[in-house]
Amino acid sequence: MELFEAIKGRRSCRSFSQEGVEEDIIMKILESASWAPSPMNAQSWEFMVIENPDIKEKIFQEADYRRKWGQEVSGWKWLGKYSVEFLKTAPVLIVVIGDPKKTGLDAFLEEGGVGYQHACAAAIQNMHLSAHALGLGTLWFTLFDRNEIRKILDIPQDKVPLAIICVGKPEGDIPTPPRKDIKEKVTFIR
Ligand SMILES: Cc1cc2nc3c(=O)[nH]c(=O)nc-3n(C[C@H](O)[C@H](O)[C@H](O)COP(=O)(O)O)c2cc1C
Repeated sequence: MELFEAIKGRRSCRSFSQEGVEEDIIMKILESASWAPSPMNAQSWEFMVIENPDIKEKIFQEADYRRKWGQEVSGWKWLGKYSVEFLKTAPVLIVVIGDPKKTGLDAFLEEGGVGYQHACAAAIQNMHLSAHALGLGTLWFTLFDRNEIRKILDIPQDKVPLAIICVGKPEGDIPTPPRKDIKEKVTFIR
């Protein structure tokens, strides 16, 4: 698949078929993550691949609780209709765990380092694109409390579960959310 076609054609998938994803395909996607840039090549990420239905159920329960909480605090009505069932139906969940110690020189700034989060985001985008090129759908999911996910997955306090990437064969058509004209977002300083 041509790169620009892949970038434009990738969509956030929220409906998956039950069909599993083979381990060599998962590893291919994860290897693409490892080629992302990171501060001082610190490779600030770790990944947990979840296929176990009981663990997926626990993650679903946490996210669904957050969804209801989010609706209360924000008043956003769409959260009432938004379902996080895909956390159970996606055959694979990849938990992306960042290491704040692997953040580069910004660790010494007063506001603390966030380079490790940028690195993880770059790794996530690589996974999205490679999964898309392999005919799979993905979703970048963040509606959870990090401490609750730490507890479910036994992740130590000094590591940060930043995102859960749902991976599987997409089911149904996914509409394309429009983008603003890029000219509205660009300033040239010459
Ligand atoms: C940092 C980040 C967090 C996101 N969190 C969620 C999420 O918790 N739930 C969800 O359904 N989509 C989530 N998304 C996906 C966005 O909703 C989606 O990318 C956006 O609507 C544009 O759609 P597209 O990816 O199909 O182009 C997230 C995306 C990013 C980059």
